[in-house]
Amino acid sequence: MGIGTSLPATRVSNFEIESFLDTSDEWIQSRTGIRERRVAEPELTLLQLAARAARAALQAADLDPSAIDAVICSSSSPDATFPSLACRLQAELGCPHGPAFDVQAACSGAIYGMALAQSMIQSGLSRTVLVVAAEIFSRVLDWSDRSTAVLFGDGAGALVVGSSNQEGAQIVALDLGADGGGAWALDTIRYHPIKQEPARLRPEYATSDRAMDRVVHMDGREVFRFSTKILEQIVLRLAGAARIEVDQIALIVPHQANSRILGTAAGRLGVPFDRFTCNVDRLGNTSSASIPLALAEAEGQGRCHTGDLVCLVAFGAGLTWGGVLLRWQPTGVVVDDPGDLEKSNQSLSDTEGRSTPRREEISG
Ligand SMILES: CC(C)(COP(=O)(O)OP(=O)(O)OC[C@H]1O[C@@H](n2cnc3c(N)ncnc32)[C@H](O)[C@@H]1OP(=O)(O)O)[C@@H](O)C(=O)NCCC(=O)NCCS
Repeated sequence: MGIGTSLPATRVSNFEIESFLDTSDEWIQSRTGIRERRVAEPELTLLQLAARAARAALQAADLDPSAIDAVICSSSSPDATFPSLACRLQAELGCPHGPAFDVQAACSGAIYGMALAQSMIQSGLSRTVLVVAAEIFSRVLDWSDRSTAVLFGDGAGALVVGSSNQEGAQIVALDLGADGGGAWALDTIRYHPIKQEPARLRPEYATSDRAMDRVVHMDGREVFRFSTKILEQIVLRLAGAARIEVDQIALIVPHQANSRILGTAAGRLGVPFDRFTCNVDRLGNTSSASIPLALAEAEGQGRCHTGDLVCLVAFGAGLTWGGVLLRWQPTGVVVDDPGDLEKSNQSLSDTEGRSTPRREEISG
C-alpha cells in the first residue's frame, strides 16, 4: 500500500467566514472543533486535485502508473456526471486500460473503494488498484446556509491497494453497510441563488460557479445521532470479525466530521480519545477524502507502528458506513501540500517498533 494526499493551498479560517455569514469562531469551534479548512482556488479542478493525490500515492508506493490495472474514484462533489472522475484520471495518469469507475457512497467512499479494490484483487480481476477520494465541497455548499457552510473543506487522498504479498499495511477485516431509509438526513437540494447576499460581499470561493446545481442540506442533529452510534458499531463489528478486543486496536482513524462526534463515540467505546486521530480542526470535514488524509497524517506523525491494528471508520450520506481493520506495515506516504507553511511533523526519527515510511513533501 502507498498513501498520497493533496490539499489546496488556501486556508479559510472561521474568522473569515464570520465576515460574511451570521456565525462565530466561538460557535463553530465549540460545536465542531473546526478552526479552519482548505478551499480550492477557482482555477483548481477536481481532476487536478485528484491527480496530485494519485501521483503522490504512486510515488509513495514506488510504482509507475503502468502498474495500476484498475482505478476507483470517490467524490461527492464531481464536476461532471459522466465521464467518471476515474476514467479521466486513468487517462491523465497514463494507466493501462483496466476498469475505471466512481463509487458514490458520500463520506464512506474511500472505504467502499478499498473494499471493492480488495475484492477485485481477491477475485483475480486486478492486481494493483488505485483508490482516490477527492472533494471540492466548497462548490456544492450554499454559502448562505450557516448550518452547513462552516463544516466542510476541500482535499484529496489516494491509496494504492495491492495483494497481500505486496509491501505496506494489510487489510485484516472489512465492514460495509447502508440504510437508504435515512437518505433524507443528509442530501442535496436545488440551489436557490435568491438566498445569496450580493456577490460583492463574499470571497470568490463562495460565489464561483458551482460544480452542480445542487447544494448540501442536512439535519445536523439526526446525522450526529447516527454518526456516534454507527462509529461505535463498526469498531465493535471489526473487532468481532478479527476476534480481538477493542483494547487491542492501537489507533482509530475515523471520518473527520466533527470532534464532538469523535469524542462521543470514544466515550461510548470506552477508548481514550488520544487513540483517535483528529485533524478536523485544520481541515474541516473533507468528506470521502478525510480518512486517507487522516491516515497519512497519523503515519507521518509516527503514530502507526509495525504490527499495530489500525481501524478506519467512515459514515456519511446515504446513509452509508464502512470500516477497514489494517495490520500496519511500513507504508510510504507522500503529502502534496503547497499550503503547509509550517512543514510540521518533519521529524521521522526511528523509535523501536515504529515503521519508517518515506515521507516527502511536494511543493506546489
Ligand atoms: C451541525 C451541528 C454542529 C449543529 O450543532 P447543534 O448543537 O445540533 O445545533 P442546532 O442545529 O441544534 O442549532 C442550534 C442553534 O445554532 C444555530 N446555528 C446553526 N449553525 C450555526 C452557525 N454556523 N453559527 C451560529 N449558529 C448556528 C441554529 O440556527 C440554532 O439556533 P436556534 O436555537 O436559534 O434555532 C451538529 O448537529 C452536528 O455536528 N451534526 C453532525 C454534522 C456532521 O458531522 N455532518 C457530516 C456527517 S458526514
